[in-house]
Amino acid sequence: MQLSYCMSRFDFKQKGRNMELQRIDKILSSQNIASRSELKQMIQQGRVSVNGQTVKNAREKYDPETVAIAVDGREVCFRRYVYIMMNKPAGVLSASRDFRDKTVVDLLPRELQRKGVFPAGRLDKDTEGFILITDDGGLAHQMLSPKQHVYKLYEAVVDKVLTEEDVTAFRQGITCGELHFLPAEMKITAPHTALVEICEGKFHQVKKMFHAVGAEVLHLRRLRIGNVFLDPALPSGGFRELTNEEIHAILGKLHGI
Ligand code: URA
Repeated sequence: MQLSYCMSRFDFKQKGRNMELQRIDKILSSQNIASRSELKQMIQQGRVSVNGQTVKNAREKYDPETVAIAVDGREVCFRRYVYIMMNKPAGVLSASRDFRDKTVVDLLPRELQRKGVFPAGRLDKDTEGFILITDDGGLAHQMLSPKQHVYKLYEAVVDKVLTEEDVTAFRQGITCGELHFLPAEMKITAPHTALVEICEGKFHQVKKMFHAVGAEVLHLRRLRIGNVFLDPALPSGGFRELTNEEIHAILGKLHGI
């Protein structure tokens, strides 16, 4: 198994989340450092330390969020949850499982699927771009709450020439039948293309907002969640873990840190 390390310990404390003591070999295998049996050997070889003290026994227990763990002298970045940025392709469902269609979770390797990950928030089947996939149960709910002001930026290509009146309508807050959408910023970047920023997550929201001003969305792509941009190096269907800074940018805001 490949060794993976972080250069600095991920010591971001999440409010109200208490970590219990866990065996050191369990902690390290949860971070994909090595298998439990490999880790036992590494511990016997004196390669693992906690707070600078060599660990003698794989059964020793620690709170991984409050100690500094190192393997071969390099600090291990402990992450309780996984946070994955995916460039969702069109035609794939933002769900964990589906009997008919491929889902974003199906695009991940088995070891991540086994962690019980799911998409935090939804993109329509035909929408592309940034989807966050995690095993952090509290995150999705919080991210979608307008009270949290986590803005999401979309690029939309529509079937009519956009006007300043459309920009004003978005800024005033669109009402569409029973539905009312909070004021949103829209910036026209080409006659048929605009960037739109919203902090709600209502069903088909961007499409409905454009529909209300007489435009149908032909193509929709999410470019940013909070302050975190979709990595332009990710191909369609590609994914990577969020960096510590990116996790801070999303979670830190949710937890008021
Ligand atoms: N708004 C939409 O209409 N669709 C999406 O997928 C996301 C936001």
